[in-house]
Amino acid sequence: MPVSEGMIGGLIDLKRTEGEGLATQLTGQLRSLIASGRLGKGRALPSSRRLASDLGVSRNTVTYAFEQLAAEGYLKASHGRRPVVAIDGGERIEGARSVASSPRSARPRISPWASKLQQTDWPMSYQAPLKPLRPGHGDAREFPSEIWGRCLRRSAVRAAKRELGPVNRPRLREALAHYLATSRGVRAGADQILILPSAQAALTLIAAAVITPGDEVWVEDPGYPGAAAAFRASGAHVTGIRLDEQGMQRTPGLAAPTLMFMTPSHQHPTGRLMSLTRRTEFLALTRPGKTWIVEDDYDGEFHYDSRPVPALQGLDAYGRVFYVGTFSKAMTSDIRFGYLVVPPALVSTLEIAQRHIGLIASSHIQEALAEFIADGHFLAHLRRVRRLYHARRDHLVAGLERHLGEVLAVEVPSGGIQLVARLKRGRADQAAVTRLVEAGVVTRAISSLALGKPRDHGLLLGFAAWRENEISAALRTMASCF
Ligand SMILES: Cc1ncc(COP(=O)(O)O)c(C=O)c1O
Repeated sequence: MPVSEGMIGGLIDLKRTEGEGLATQLTGQLRSLIASGRLGKGRALPSSRRLASDLGVSRNTVTYAFEQLAAEGYLKASHGRRPVVAIDGGERIEGARSVASSPRSARPRISPWASKLQQTDWPMSYQAPLKPLRPGHGDAREFPSEIWGRCLRRSAVRAAKRELGPVNRPRLREALAHYLATSRGVRAGADQILILPSAQAALTLIAAAVITPGDEVWVEDPGYPGAAAAFRASGAHVTGIRLDEQGMQRTPGLAAPTLMFMTPSHQHPTGRLMSLTRRTEFLALTRPGKTWIVEDDYDGEFHYDSRPVPALQGLDAYGRVFYVGTFSKAMTSDIRFGYLVVPPALVSTLEIAQRHIGLIASSHIQEALAEFIADGHFLAHLRRVRRLYHARRDHLVAGLERHLGEVLAVEVPSGGIQLVARLKRGRADQAAVTRLVEAGVVTRAISSLALGKPRDHGLLLGFAAWRENEISAALRTMASCF
């Protein structure tokens, strides 16, 4: 049953004891109400003042939730007006009605794991449209789809003759082990590599396998929310570690945690590169068999200014590092697929967990990928788009400096697919994102990637997925918004 305005406050249930902030809880609950169709398209929400008073929270909390949901495309907000629901979330099908309309008292009991995941807004709920300059993507238009199609076809034709299992196809493991050793300096046997549907799946699997509730986990702050979500859902106590110019800082006085999650090649979101000294310091903090590092090398394939810095995993002589990679950026988000290099002592534990959780990637696609890599198409594609993305990064940087230099300070990353432009005045990055999204330029607020109270404010802008003329058009729009 759709919900009337007066009832909206009554449907929100904020827990002050939860680790999750009130603003994040409110954002998640409003998002669910829209996604389930209970708040239908066109429905005006109460004003921030009214909702804040109904819920007994500060107006800032409500404003944060409205701005975040506007940035994600759930709400349409315009200055001085109540926000309006922008999408039709609920499917009108028989049977779904009874679920959508069940009273609050009949909410199903769910596990702490599911409940923690519901309270985070990442990754599936980030549904901003794929328009310039949405971060996090490579250019699917540049992907050699014809060649990929031929690999898929050959894999399909061979499928009937293929032996069933193993779940991690040996040809792909071999091809990846060779690629990772030669291109990323990863030291691993093929049998240490698990093939997974995504990098996010790798994080979930690691969390399930090594986290005991209450364990301490460090993540970068600001950082990749998918990692914090996976570890928190497993019951870990997640601490955000501040950044300096080399990414995650060494924090004297903090006892070593069970796990440290980091993106040393290009810190997500800032793009900063972790120095060799810092990498060795973090490795020295770990205790073999007790403390783990998760190195997420999500876009390590893209380096422009210097030779690529080898993976941290290659420095580790004691098997303390999980190395996570994804084809989401290097190929397309549509193919996705991820992989995980597992420390030798944990291979069988992780393989068993992988099968039981069912995080098994299609053999069909695994075989096609093995051929795509072994025949040199993957490296050829990377070489080509690396040149392209390099030029696009430079185009975006030059344009930002020329047209928006008064308001934004660009931090030029040495690689990757996105960059950070900091607000020179004020901290209102969420409001800026809302304005930009309304004008047709998609970006993400750096403060929305903070673990706790945001310390950093700015815009995360993607450059890889957009042609130079598209970047120029987006820059003109941006200039008219500031
Ligand atoms: C830092 C980081 N790690 C991991 C991922 C997830 O990759 P996948 O799409 O394979 O789950 C992303 C995706 O945006 C990312 O930015």
